[in-house]
Amino acid sequence: MKIVVTGAAGYVGSYLINKLLEDERFADYEIIGFDNFLVGKKDNYELIKRNGRVKLLHGDICDREFVKDLLKDTEIVYHLAAISGVVQCNRNPMLAFKVNVEGTLNMLENSVKNDVEYFIYPSSAAVYGDVNGNLAREDTPLNPLNNYGAMKASCEMLCRGYHNNYGLGTVILRFTNIYGVGTYPKWRTVVTNFILRALRNEPLTIYGTGEQRRDFIHIDDAVEIYKLVITPKAKGEVFNAGSGYTASVKEIANIVAEIAKRKGIEVRITYERARESKERTFAYDVSKIKSLGFEPKYDIRSGIEKTFNDIQYILAKGFREFQNEI
Ligand SMILES: NC(=O)c1ccc[n+]([C@@H]2O[C@H](COP(=O)([O-])OP(=O)(O)OC[C@H]3O[C@@H](n4cnc5c(N)ncnc54)[C@H](O)[C@@H]3O)[C@@H](O)[C@H]2O)c1
Repeated sequence: MKIVVTGAAGYVGSYLINKLLEDERFADYEIIGFDNFLVGKKDNYELIKRNGRVKLLHGDICDREFVKDLLKDTEIVYHLAAISGVVQCNRNPMLAFKVNVEGTLNMLENSVKNDVEYFIYPSSAAVYGDVNGNLAREDTPLNPLNNYGAMKASCEMLCRGYHNNYGLGTVILRFTNIYGVGTYPKWRTVVTNFILRALRNEPLTIYGTGEQRRDFIHIDDAVEIYKLVITPKAKGEVFNAGSGYTASVKEIANIVAEIAKRKGIEVRITYERARESKERTFAYDVSKIKSLGFEPKYDIRSGIEKTFNDIQYILAKGFREFQNEI
């Protein structure tokens, strides 16, 4: 049987494939990854372990014939391909709609036709919008504040429709901010961005007070969730996929500065005017995913420390830009 991973040259997709390869539980699967290299670069495939069970292709989730043929004999679809990020979806709304919504519909439709058993869809905390400092739970009404959140919410509804109508085993994972180095770091996220700046002796800039708190999850823990939900109990369900701890931007900057100092690098923290009029605090109820056995391995301090070391290592090997800007 096969596992298909879309967005295989992306930040999470490439790492997920490596982790699936290491896991005994998935030892009998052939793994097919594909990407159209819109964001993730083709070179990123070199970061995926050479293994006879893995095939890496160039392909588009919107291409009906390609997807139809590819999904034959597939048991699990990890549908990660997307135009991911608030800025990118606001900047390219039409393209983002085509990829995120039409592409997802194409994947769902062909998954049903090929009797796929699990269709794993990474949604986002962005579907909740502003929860006014309350704890976001799976049954909190959705109120997206931007195109990205609206498209994630739309795809969630499509997943539910395909589950209710055709019995497709969809699992919706509402991920918070994933950080850390997988096969490569995603520089535009706050943790990696601060670490890179620290290593370049540039100040860490905080917009606003930096007191706004959000849930952060290390990529190793995120990938554990992806593997954990391959269970009949998860089919048709939606899960908050976070660590359950929150951290403020200020706290992250302080931890990065502290680690840098220990390594002999003095880092300045500077403040600029807030980019959003309201500073949102966002806490996540993760009891449902924990009921499946999830326990995060990293808290924010150990997660940042690991990320710092991983980035230093990767830079020492020669810095490369892993993603195209769109
Ligand atoms: N990284 C996070 O913090 C986070 C949080 C919540 C949800 N998610 C979701 O998880 C998924 C993976 O996130 P990521 O951080 O790895 O994103 P990413 O941008 O690194 O990877 C997405 C990949 O999809 C590919 N892609 C885009 N359009 C395509 C198409 N038409 N056909 C085939 N491939 C296409 C891109 O080239 C890219 O390599 C996305 O759906 C994202 O929205 C991520």
